[in-house]
Amino acid sequence: MIEQSVSKRRRTRILAIAGAVVFGLAVVPFILYAAAFGWRSLTGDLGSESYLFAGRAPVAETGLSLHMLAGAAITLAVPLQILPPLRRRWPALHRWTGRGIVTLGLVAALGGLVFIGTRGTIGGPVMDAGFAIYGLLLGLAAIMAISRARAGEFAAHRRWALRLAVLILGSWLFRVHYVLWYAVTGGLWSNEGLTGPFDRVQVFAFYLPYLVLVEVYLRRATPRAAHVL
Ligand code: HEM
Repeated sequence: MIEQSVSKRRRTRILAIAGAVVFGLAVVPFILYAAAFGWRSLTGDLGSESYLFAGRAPVAETGLSLHMLAGAAITLAVPLQILPPLRRRWPALHRWTGRGIVTLGLVAALGGLVFIGTRGTIGGPVMDAGFAIYGLLLGLAAIMAISRARAGEFAAHRRWALRLAVLILGSWLFRVHYVLWYAVTGGLWSNEGLTGPFDRVQVFAFYLPYLVLVEVYLRRATPRAAHVL
């Protein structure tokens, strides 16, 4: 029995270290890129540097800059927020970080939606639809996570928080899918305008399959395991 719990603790520690290494090496560079891009686009003129800011559309472009800054902040905060030891030890910090994630999550979603509604994405209507559904789901998960916590329904709160965390990481996963696909195929079925068959699938595949996996996990997990998350 004691041996079992020691090996479980060791496994949890190894998983936590592996998670921290992956986050530090693979996710943090994306966060820094998004924050720097968002800041530079908000404070300077990137019209000659990026098609995203070449449209002379101040509302759309400001929305996009703010969404990048908010997106960078929540991508950094979300892994810390779901770590059970931090949550148990500093519940007040968990509540305040949670409020911040929900607020900035709504800014990221709304900023992206404003850009889609006023300028449209590079990939046209299919990409507009994929990203708009993504933004709406992220906004819904943020609102549900906080409203369930305020209602004292903590099991439902944890379920929505998990969906929100997966959606937030979706933006990073979108880039990971491209990096892997280009490394393996050299960019088959993909083009710069993001209108190839691979691109058409990708604009939904960076979040929908992961949401399905979360639902499968939530249905299979014992109440105790689901509580850990
Ligand atoms: C969750 C964190 C998020 C981060 C860190 C993030 C980051 C970024 C970055 C850095 C770009 C610039 C393009 C690039 O360099 O690839 C971008 C573009 C974009 N993002 Fe986000 N984003 C996030 C969430 C969202 C959400 C929720 C939406 C949905 C409304 C959204 C919609 C868009 C759109 C429409 C573009 C422009 C696509 C194009 O036409 O190229 N993003 N995002």
